[in-house]
Amino acid sequence: METIQAILESKLRAAAGDTGGIPVTVQATQDARFGDYQGNLAMQLAKVRKANPRVVAQEIIARLDVADICEAPEIAGAGFINFRLKPATLAAHFAALAKDSRFGVPVVPQRRLVIDFSSPNVAKPMHVGHIRSTFLGDALARIGRFLGHVVVADNHIGDWGTQFGMLCLAWKTIIDKAALERDPIGELERVYKLQNEACKSDPAAMDAARAELVKLQAGDAENLAIWKEMIRLSQVQFDTIYARLDIKFDCTLGESFYNPWLKDTVGELLRTGIAQKSDGAICVFSDGGVPEKEDPFLIKDENGWKPSPALVQKADGASNYTTTDLATIAYRVREFAPDEIIYVTDGRQQLHFRQFFAIWRRLHVESAVTLSHCWFGSILGEDGKPFKTRSGDTVKLADLLDEAEERAYKVVREKNPELPEPECREIARIIGIGAVKYADLLPNRQGDYVFSWDKLLSFQGNTAPYLQNAYVRIRSIFRKAGESALNPQPSALNFTEPAEFALIKKLAQFGETLPGILTDHRPNILCNYLFELANAYHSFYEACPVLKAAEPARSSRLALSDVTARTLKHGLSLLGIEVPERM
Ligand code: ARG
Repeated sequence: METIQAILESKLRAAAGDTGGIPVTVQATQDARFGDYQGNLAMQLAKVRKANPRVVAQEIIARLDVADICEAPEIAGAGFINFRLKPATLAAHFAALAKDSRFGVPVVPQRRLVIDFSSPNVAKPMHVGHIRSTFLGDALARIGRFLGHVVVADNHIGDWGTQFGMLCLAWKTIIDKAALERDPIGELERVYKLQNEACKSDPAAMDAARAELVKLQAGDAENLAIWKEMIRLSQVQFDTIYARLDIKFDCTLGESFYNPWLKDTVGELLRTGIAQKSDGAICVFSDGGVPEKEDPFLIKDENGWKPSPALVQKADGASNYTTTDLATIAYRVREFAPDEIIYVTDGRQQLHFRQFFAIWRRLHVESAVTLSHCWFGSILGEDGKPFKTRSGDTVKLADLLDEAEERAYKVVREKNPELPEPECREIARIIGIGAVKYADLLPNRQGDYVFSWDKLLSFQGNTAPYLQNAYVRIRSIFRKAGESALNPQPSALNFTEPAEFALIKKLAQFGETLPGILTDHRPNILCNYLFELANAYHSFYEACPVLKAAEPARSSRLALSDVTARTLKHGLSLLGIEVPERM
């Protein structure tokens, strides 16, 4: 179905005529004094035409045909046009919404998206550093799919690199097989640390590790088998965590998958003159194609701009992360024909992405694929320093999820002493995991955020438990009334109260909010929307009795409650968050 916003925009477009490319938009207002929707088109047109914006607004309104859905539009302030919807418009929109399986989300032009996210490294535990990429990427994939796009969720795991020389050596010399059996990743992590230390202080150990790496790269059977076993053990660990988080990938093509194309990638860069030999290594330098400030191959110091090349082959002939990423885009473009590839990583990788995007563009001037780096800030502890365990180690994702469930369990148990144990555990799982995901998705992704158990598990404020609780409270109304109390017959709907209309307006905004999330890859927009929706419901519930109301208000309010509950549940599911039926 069409959104109210889209209907108003097309009417406004018809009235405005040729805007000379100025986009015609209206926004839902935050403040009811400015009507329900507001547009600043007249002000933008007036600027270009050097005219009085209020006069331009007057001219547009004279041609504007909105009488079927709005009160007479008003001009406000410097030339805003304000629209106030008729109560009948809102009631009719709600009736359509109640029957719409897409929750009022319009069909948008389909696009093909590859989302590269999570991407942990083999032989290491998944830790807090992977949280944001995993949750953000998954939310974008879910939202993309619901909007109707073709989404390829690709886990670009780190399964290649110099660390495997040390790991092969450690596997042959110091590994404790019993420990490996018990806790594979813990043991791999332990021996890697030991081997790394040994290599730092002992050149002979370093040489031995290098020799193992060379053998692995040359396809030595024993080392290949060890390497494959390390990948298998790691994947078991990743899969356990993804199952817990209900995260699915369409493919898991690790870095090593692209090895066969690395030599050709470097060769092509040399042939086209994009890369040059430099001290035995092969690098890409600036081609002066963009202003210095925007050039990823330049860096500024006190003496001015100087080269900051991207390395694509080391002096020893080995390729690196950049080479692999270049081969990876080529593969994805061939295989998936994406309109956009979205890479979800830490903000510290920004330079890497700017450089290899630029190299790809120079190599494929004709390529229309949009390359997006969806980067994020760090998670901090309550002391404002990087989030660590009490003993100063990195926080493992599995431990974090265990703690979330355990803490949620205490809260749920305290609230419901009589709840059977398995049900209490299940609710605690839904609340605990949901709370961690939501706390991560809510802040603007480009900032750092402070991880606080008390805040994220609170039933008050903008948290998952608050939204889950809003859902549960609505469901309990239906338990009391009986599910059959719901009478969604549009003819029976009748709304009179401002709080009812305010809630309908919020519900109508779901379809207006969702498509924009993919523009700049910001699921936090959905978090904030759901919080506003829960608040609008809360105000409605305070102002309007539901079960005690007389007909037709009772049925109408039940219908409002039902659509709100379903929208909350669906919206949370797009963030990868479940809802319990009670809590
Ligand atoms: N494995 C990398 C890391 O842990 C992330 C990979 C991101 N994706 C990519 N195509 N570079 O930092």
